[in-house]
Amino acid sequence: MMRTAHLIYFSPTGTTKKISASIAQGLGAKNVTHYDVTLPDSNFETVLTDGVAIIGIPVYAGRVPELCLQRLQAITSKGVPAVLVALYGNREFEDALVELRDVSVAKGFNVIAAGAFIGEHSCSTPARPIAASRPNTEDLKLAVQFGKQVAAKIERNAFANPEINGNVPYKDRVQIGGVAPETDSEKCTLCGKCAAVCPTGVIIVSVSVTTHADNCIMCCACVKTCEVEARPFNHPRIEERRAILQKNCSMPKAPEVFF
Ligand SMILES: Cc1cc2nc3c(=O)[nH]c(=O)nc-3n(C[C@H](O)[C@H](O)[C@H](O)COP(=O)(O)O)c2cc1C
Repeated sequence: MMRTAHLIYFSPTGTTKKISASIAQGLGAKNVTHYDVTLPDSNFETVLTDGVAIIGIPVYAGRVPELCLQRLQAITSKGVPAVLVALYGNREFEDALVELRDVSVAKGFNVIAAGAFIGEHSCSTPARPIAASRPNTEDLKLAVQFGKQVAAKIERNAFANPEINGNVPYKDRVQIGGVAPETDSEKCTLCGKCAAVCPTGVIIVSVSVTTHADNCIMCCACVKTCEVEARPFNHPRIEERRAILQKNCSMPKAPEVFF
């Protein structure tokens, strides 16, 4: 039996974490250690030397989010086998998995498997659903099964690197931010939960809520966390994006795995 699974993830709205945890379940590790690098105060200066790592990231504009790359820098490894996970919102994962592979290899991991899974799109709303409620039961089942397949690969001492879909050089980065969810002061109770889940710390709660849009990564953690729906994100740029996604990406995609 596998001793330790190191679960490393950046997951503002929790879907990457869910899939990564299901893969760990499938691996059957005795101990699961979480390295949640989502929040600004996450600081794991660590060199991993044993077990297996599961490294999960959400796909932003076909790439690994820049902030996520920065946060992953603190964790390095001495040849620990790694399973990579790209979570995307039913559009495309494009070059995110190959980028994550290259970053992981540079950090000393030995990539032995990778998977692209689908999660509810950050922009999804009840009125404009995009991959709503994913990962669903079937997705989670497939993630557990993927974990079991990885465990079997390790059991066979088969540590070959997978061929992963995606291009090098990666597609150009798209500038993210400049617009941010707003605060509906009629509904807001100043509870501070939005600020507590913000990966960039751009939400300041005092007698009112201020959001510094320039550094917002549009992850929508604040929108999805607010219990009183006081964080609308209806900027025309986002509405336009939602309409395009709904039009072009409504056919549910299936997870893909690479060994
Ligand atoms: C700025 C931004 C860009 C995104 N770009 C993509 C994309 O290129 N393809 C896609 O399918 N989903 C895209 N998504 C959706 C996320 O990949 C998806 O919602 C993911 O499940 C979020 O992971 P999390 O729940 O761990 O935060 C994007 C989301 C945001 C906020």
